Amino acid sequence: MLKVDALCTDYTDAHGRLVHAVQEVSFEVGTGKLFTLLGPSGCGKTTTLRSIAGLERPQAGTIAVDGTVVYSSAQGVFVAPNKRSFGMVFQSYAIWPHMNVFQNAAFPLEVGSRRMTKQAIREKVMRVLHTVGLEELAGREATDLSGGQQQRLALARALAMEPRLLLLDEPLSNLDAKLRERMRFELKRLQHELGLTTVYVTHDQYEALALSHEIAVMNAGRIVQIGTPRDIYERPRDKFVADFVGSTNFIEGTVVASENCAHRYRMQTALGVLLAESASRLTSGDHALLSVRPEDIALTLNVPAGDNVCTGIVRAIVFLGEFLDFQIEAGGQMLLVRCHPTVEVVAGQTVYLQLSPEKCIVVTEPTSRWK
Ligand SMILES: Nc1ncnc2c1ncn2[C@@H]1O[C@H](COP(=O)(O)OP(=O)(O)OP(=O)(O)O)[C@@H](O)[C@H]1O
Ligand SMILES: [Mg+2]
Repeated sequence: MLKVDALCTDYTDAHGRLVHAVQEVSFEVGTGKLFTLLGPSGCGKTTTLRSIAGLERPQAGTIAVDGTVVYSSAQGVFVAPNKRSFGMVFQSYAIWPHMNVFQNAAFPLEVGSRRMTKQAIREKVMRVLHTVGLEELAGREATDLSGGQQQRLALARALAMEPRLLLLDEPLSNLDAKLRERMRFELKRLQHELGLTTVYVTHDQYEALALSHEIAVMNAGRIVQIGTPRDIYERPRDKFVADFVGSTNFIEGTVVASENCAHRYRMQTALGVLLAESASRLTSGDHALLSVRPEDIALTLNVPAGDNVCTGIVRAIVFLGEFLDFQIEAGGQMLLVRCHPTVEVVAGQTVYLQLSPEKCIVVTEPTSRWK
């Protein structure tokens, strides 16, 4: 549906220096899918979205929707933003101050090319206002809304248009945790129900994992990895992705041998010999960094059967309600281990740790990408 190919967008800053905000970004979004651009502040998410919308003029690349090219540096094509008929919610949400809530959401429908009766507009607007929890405020002046309410109004307005492509830039960033969670469910339901093809921008990993069909993790203007939420979380390709999405432990080691089973290697580490998986081929003597999530390390008081076992000393315990986080010193480094709150262990105790071999993932060190 949407195809972005080798997109490059530069800015010139106030000192006349060139900022390569987006470099060689390529991805595809299928019809009805929600695709997320995830990455830290300044990595180029908004710039990518604005380039798709036609609000920035890229330096190079191609953007096509349903086979129609809306931007191509090679063909010299640039379709004006209003001709692309995409719905967009901006990071700094723009609501119209001289209108009330209902009028704000109804405006795109009233001026749109599709002729709709007043009654049909009313029904549709009230439905989207209900979705975002604003139907009771339909008559209120838009400027009298809180930040979070304005953000929901901006979302309602974009949804009312049922655009062929919905571009959302951090649409839930100003909501409190509870409301954000509710809106996350609502958005997922609506997106699914209406089959809206959506590009979603966020720096919130949980939002990305919960909402997306596919995620592109960005760093310093480039896409580092594209995959399903599960791929990204369970099979991070490089250190940056493993670290940015979720929390993880890194353990350095040297490859001793490959195992019979595909992609599995035996590594010498400070915690002893560990089995780990690697998507790329490794040979004996290679230096390797493995990543293992805190919930993929089992903590026991008795020595467990199987591979990848080591001992450690409990240094700190943090109670987080749904789980306990342990800081455990093992092999001269601190490991974060996440357990069910019923686990009874005290600080200073020696415990056994077992790292699931299929969850010990060898990651590559990111090459220097900073401009
Ligand atoms: N108008 C501009 N002029 C110059 N540089 C800009 C401009 N807009 C963005 N940049 C720079 O381009 C880079 C990418 O910015 P962008 O807004 O796309 O980041 P982002 O990933 O959306 O970040 P955030 O999560 O903070 O919103 C940053 O280094 C930023 O400083
Ligand atoms: Mg941004």
